[in-house]
Amino acid sequence: MPVGNDIEQAITFLNLGQLVAIPTETVYGLAANAFDADAVTRIYHAKNRPRFNPLIIHTDSLDKLRNWGLVLPEKMIQLAHYYSPGPLTYIIPKSDRIPEIVTAGTQGVAVRIPNHPLTLQLLSRLDYPLAAPSANPSGFISPTNAWHVNEQLGEHIAYILNGGECKVGIESTIISFLNPVPEILRHGGISVEDIEKIIGPVSDPLRNNADLPINEINPVSPGLLAKHYAPKHKLIYGDIPKYLAYFKPERTGIIAFSSVYESVPVRNQFVLSMNRNLDEAAQKLFAAMRDADKLDVDVILAEKFPDTGLGRAINDRLKRAGTLD
Ligand code: TXA
Ligand code: MG
Repeated sequence: MPVGNDIEQAITFLNLGQLVAIPTETVYGLAANAFDADAVTRIYHAKNRPRFNPLIIHTDSLDKLRNWGLVLPEKMIQLAHYYSPGPLTYIIPKSDRIPEIVTAGTQGVAVRIPNHPLTLQLLSRLDYPLAAPSANPSGFISPTNAWHVNEQLGEHIAYILNGGECKVGIESTIISFLNPVPEILRHGGISVEDIEKIIGPVSDPLRNNADLPINEINPVSPGLLAKHYAPKHKLIYGDIPKYLAYFKPERTGIIAFSSVYESVPVRNQFVLSMNRNLDEAAQKLFAAMRDADKLDVDVILAEKFPDTGLGRAINDRLKRAGTLD
């Protein structure tokens, strides 16, 4: 599959209704012209994604969104001032210009301005937005480099725009403005604390129920199913020392914040940030989950991270990947 950093190539394929993988600061996206319903259909096919799960549209400016008939809520504009381009997605009322297939028939559309130089350059050349879910088959871990994309979806993609390793490494935070009180639908690259600093208190069912299993928290977004990431190995998330007693250390993989476990072979351990920096840990999480899944082990044990800042998004992804302790 052609992989490169040629924006002209990417534009040519997108104009033809083909799929192009794009780098963003969060994860790689599988992009198509959002105004071309046939092209968007190709995204659903390639990912084997259920049709009820809507897609985020990506562009490079708020003015383009306005030109496409979207009315931007005041609090969205305030947030965008600080965090766009960036890892934040806004759900706002859709306009007639946005095809039903993009929003899966719902009244809201998800919009984001990603912060990656190549992709911003690409978007600035387009007069249509790019519909782009994460570039992984439905139910798998999101890709944080071009190689991850090629490995799992290469055969379906006309061109992979290679923008290196994703700097944030975890998907965007999703905030909905469809009701009077803004609501967090997914924890991600911008922390809830940072959002509340700008627009005041938001509703956040996931934060308020952090200790509940995901499926006991009302599904707030059509795509936010409890089981999102399906590692091949059993993954247990919680108190590692407690679980180490039940498994053979040499047959155990570990994903930890900063701790190293003496009884477990070093090659089976993924330490995400020696100096306990949650941003660094988030950046490395998905690659570690992929690599841990390739180990010849019986189980992967993952630590619970501090429930603050990007730690919430990390815990969310681990919780969805595994069995809660
Ligand atoms: O960081 C990201 O957001 C990446 C990059 C490529 O931008 N994209 C991404 O897309 O994570 P995806 O499709 O893997 O996840 C988007 C989530 C899904 O859970 C989907 O259900 C939700 O956003 N979503 C999209 N449109 C929505 C809408 N109109 N209403 C509610 N939820 C929506
Ligand atoms: Mg995804």
